[in-house]
Amino acid sequence: MKDSSRRGFMGKAFGAVAGVGAVASLYAMKKTWDPLPSVKAAGFTTLDMTAYEGNVLVTEKWRGKPVFVLKQTPEMVEFAKKKNELNRLIKVGNDYYMIVLGLCTHLGCIPGYDAEKKSFLCACHGGTYDSTAMVTKAPPPRGLDIPPFKVDGMKVVLGEEGPEYKKLLQEGVTLPV
Ligand code: FES
Repeated sequence: MKDSSRRGFMGKAFGAVAGVGAVASLYAMKKTWDPLPSVKAAGFTTLDMTAYEGNVLVTEKWRGKPVFVLKQTPEMVEFAKKKNELNRLIKVGNDYYMIVLGLCTHLGCIPGYDAEKKSFLCACHGGTYDSTAMVTKAPPPRGLDIPPFKVDGMKVVLGEEGPEYKKLLQEGVTLPV
């Protein structure tokens, strides 16, 4: 190999190595920019539905927002059937649950639950909701919204759009949040 062509070969070889190095460091930089897996998973909240009791309101958190979970007693299920509101409840195993965003559909206050009356009252402007979170007194324009969810055995994953949630959207039972 002549001296000049050897230099040319060495130059190319060095360039190739440098190129690999550049790609490797770009890859390392991209890894640094990508969010951590735990952050990506932060949009989801998994609820263990065996942990709830009938007519005891529990406030969970999903993406920083309050989510009301209210397991229905047999009497509440009968009430929902009579009012034609069973479709607002989520069936997990043999039980029904109200799972809704705890933000009033009027101006976003957090309603309070009265377990004796089985009714929610929004103290801001007096709006009320029943035990399926359907509005029973204005000014709220509609029932409390149902967050995206997926039923997974005895668990409900908030933030995932399962077939049950998509059906509720299609039927207009809830609005997308
Ligand atoms: S914000 Fe709830 S009634 Fe107005």
